[in-house]
Amino acid sequence: MLPVFDEQNIVSLNEGFTPIHTLNKISNRYKVNTVYLKDEGVNPTGSFKARGLSVAISKAKELGIEQCVIPTAGNAGGALSAYCAKAKIKATIVMPENSASVIKEEVQLYGAKLLQIPGFIQQCGKLAEEIAQKTGAFNLSTMKEPYRLEGKKTLGYEIAEQLNWQLPDVIIFPTGGGTGLIGIWKAFHELEQLNWITFNKKPRMVIVQTKNCNPMIQIIKNGQKQNNFQPQHSIANGLVVPTPFAEKSMLRVIIESNGTGIDVNEEEIQKSMQEIAKTEGLLLSPEGAAAFAGFKKLTEKNWIEAHENVCIVNTGSWYKYH
Ligand SMILES: Cc1ncc(COP(=O)(O)O)c(C=O)c1O
Repeated sequence: MLPVFDEQNIVSLNEGFTPIHTLNKISNRYKVNTVYLKDEGVNPTGSFKARGLSVAISKAKELGIEQCVIPTAGNAGGALSAYCAKAKIKATIVMPENSASVIKEEVQLYGAKLLQIPGFIQQCGKLAEEIAQKTGAFNLSTMKEPYRLEGKKTLGYEIAEQLNWQLPDVIIFPTGGGTGLIGIWKAFHELEQLNWITFNKKPRMVIVQTKNCNPMIQIIKNGQKQNNFQPQHSIANGLVVPTPFAEKSMLRVIIESNGTGIDVNEEEIQKSMQEIAKTEGLLLSPEGAAAFAGFKKLTEKNWIEAHENVCIVNTGSWYKYH
């Protein structure tokens, strides 16, 4: 199921098997059968990026790679630095200069080289590509190598296993580059092939983005992005991916699953974060809070119905945004 052949090459920090909380008060408040929260914030390095980078760096070790580079909104850079430290692989992290200072400090503590540049992740992507060309470093840019996705798919396996192989009706995922969303969907296809789940009632997959940078929502609603699309920064850094490389694969997941996309503004993200903290005693990353804000809008629109079970993914830890 995962691409590493020799167990000795596995580079793990004990990522995965994160809890699924049942949010009873939220389920009652929004009149939905059950709302689950898959809490990825408790992963090593504080986000679901740990899953993808554990597998990618394990495979890099197996392939004899000595040097890596990654463009990142932040969390993937923190995770890559940690796994490369453990694997004794050199890492260069290229991130927008406005990323959280905690993540910049984390990257340096793990001994990786940090490059900060003005602009968005796409500018970081260009520089990472130049570095890869010049130095021979392996480029781990989202969806441009196959192994991060393989790690992310473990999220789908776990949702199925932890919910006793009964998939929820709806899965809500805060989405930027798309590895999380596409990985979960791939996992469900694999589990179906193994006959571990019956997939005739597929979960409807939901992409949540910030109104400050919502290319996928524009594509889902209008078939294309506006010509004059001007992305802006957001407190939900991980969602700011103006030109996602895996646009078509994400769209395919939405079409195949009969899902949808929804965008939320910065105030809705902040308010949703406060609501979950005060109601359920859980701190969400801004991206996770965006997913919760999206959930509320979909219940208002009756796109989510009263008898349904919903799984919201909190992709990161609140503690990393300072
Ligand atoms: C906390 C968090 N949530 C969501 C995302 C978006 O993930 P993906 O690029 O897999 O869509 C990111 C990406 O940086 C992130 O750090």
